[in-house]
Amino acid sequence: MRYGEEIIERVQSLNDIVEIVSSYMPLRRAGKTFKAACPFHQEKTPSFIVNPERQIFHCFGCGAGGDVFSFLMKYENITFPEALKQLAERARVPLPEPNREERQESLAGKLFEINEAAFQYYRKNYEAEGGKAARAYLEKRGFKPQDLADFGIGYALPDWRGLADHLSKKGFGEELLLRSGLVVKSAQGSCYDLLRARVIFPIRNAQGKVVAFGGRIMTQEVPKYINSPETEIFRKRREFYGLNLAKRHIPEEPRMFIVEGYLDQIRLYAAGFRNTVATLGTALTEDHVRILKRYIQEAVLVYDGDKAGESASLRGMEIFLKEGLAVKLLALPAGLDPDDLVRNAGAAEFEKLARGAQDLFDFKLASLMKKFDRKDSLGLLKITGEFLDTFAVIPNAVLLDRYVNRLAAVLGVQTDSIRNELAKLKARKGEGRDAAAAAAPERKEGAAGGPVAEEEFMLLGLLLVEPERLEKVLQEVGADDFHSEESRRVFLTLKALFDEGEKITFNSFFGRLRDESLKPQLSKVTFFEMDELSRDKAVADCLRRIKLKKLEKERTDLERRIAQAESEGREEDLLKCMKQLQTLLASR
Ligand code: UTP
Ligand code: MN
Repeated sequence: MRYGEEIIERVQSLNDIVEIVSSYMPLRRAGKTFKAACPFHQEKTPSFIVNPERQIFHCFGCGAGGDVFSFLMKYENITFPEALKQLAERARVPLPEPNREERQESLAGKLFEINEAAFQYYRKNYEAEGGKAARAYLEKRGFKPQDLADFGIGYALPDWRGLADHLSKKGFGEELLLRSGLVVKSAQGSCYDLLRARVIFPIRNAQGKVVAFGGRIMTQEVPKYINSPETEIFRKRREFYGLNLAKRHIPEEPRMFIVEGYLDQIRLYAAGFRNTVATLGTALTEDHVRILKRYIQEAVLVYDGDKAGESASLRGMEIFLKEGLAVKLLALPAGLDPDDLVRNAGAAEFEKLARGAQDLFDFKLASLMKKFDRKDSLGLLKITGEFLDTFAVIPNAVLLDRYVNRLAAVLGVQTDSIRNELAKLKARKGEGRDAAAAAAPERKEGAAGGPVAEEEFMLLGLLLVEPERLEKVLQEVGADDFHSEESRRVFLTLKALFDEGEKITFNSFFGRLRDESLKPQLSKVTFFEMDELSRDKAVADCLRRIKLKKLEKERTDLERRIAQAESEGREEDLLKCMKQLQTLLASR
């Protein structure tokens, strides 16, 4: 559903950004703006700033920024339409009801619909006569119908085109069928179902919408599981199986068990450990941890005792520390997964093991002590080396202090020597970073992954603050002078607004160019409090650098052409290019 610019602006104007942000976290007034510790990364000194006048926020620590919609989207991990809906409700602005066509307009919307339709189909099969085998399979594995009630388990018939035909009949086109990944095309060009003769586990996002499916074969055949692929609405590096259910129980239980399998999650949930989620066949990622952090205070990684030692959990420890989320490790007896354990030994046994879950730090220390001898100086170096890298990323000083003391005590060394080593490591890393930054200041990665020229965004941000400068700037540079795709788009949007005589503000601009990824880069610039004189200078500097780059590019082009003409003996071209180069060099 695409809402009009007027309604978006109306919702925005009725939701003061300071009020919205304050409802999530405390803000402190600092002159004309408000300050806080950034909710999007771990920090000691507040670098998160809200500007009530321009109705935007920006964090100078992590670079997050934008308007009230961006804040809500990022904080709640929701889409733009969802944020709009929330804010509209808050301001009591009625939004037009989407009709069916409009709902189907976006690809994401269509993917949600097709997943929901597939879910209904698999579900019906499971409950019908044909699903007997699937029901018997789960029963044999010790799952009672009431254990499974919340999960909407389904069944994919052995047919080649059961789902494909069903969805086509419902009016979904072939392209969409293929886009969803639930239907695949053979080399011969015929379509068939991805999942056949499998028990189906619908995967729901945190909001409870079906976004993908996992399918388990009921025999010893391989592959054991087939999962539908990533799409616009399903990124397995960000989703957890069961989060939609588990998150309801967080108020009672602020820690979360993280397991590896669908059936592990279902078993623990059914056994009363409702605060359980499963990853989806990937190691935990930074995105995962950031999402969890929004909900809980402590994560408990549950691993097969055999695998825990060398598991990704140890390498992944840094992710947790960086985000400042406490994490424990629950190592199960070797060879057992949570499902096996609860089924064989009962919920009480799991509870007991959970109480003994070890801080991941202690676990890592213990397993390194087993591997290396701390009395041997090489062993000591190995152990401390492992930890220094981890320590270097901890932003929280209190936590760091605690770990340094513990490590020193266990190894029998002075805390100061660990601190010294850490300082040295940080200095080395810092130098490397500064040197790299100085060498190539403009090669910062943009949101879309391309190189972004700092001066281009600086200039564009300044123009957004003072659009009255636009007219003059338009006389000096054109779209071709911006060498990143993103800055070119921003420039063209500004130009269009100017040409149409529209009033240019942060809001009207983003009403036109709905691109969230650009907001942080532009909101940053609009926060620099500069006086008239330094703004003049900043604009002039940016223009100069942009033009210089253009010349630079022309020069290297010419030099290349000269070299080519020379090697190919094209005298005439050679002379022509050399003349051009002379004129160019003389003009600077
Ligand atoms: P496991 O092999 O531990 O299976 O895979 P499981 O969950 O215990 O399942 P059962 O008890 O044998 O039925 C753990 C998770 O890894 C992914 C699935 O998400 C699974 O739940 N996986 C595993 C796959 O995606 N494909 C596979 O072939 C195997
Ligand atoms: Mn299992």
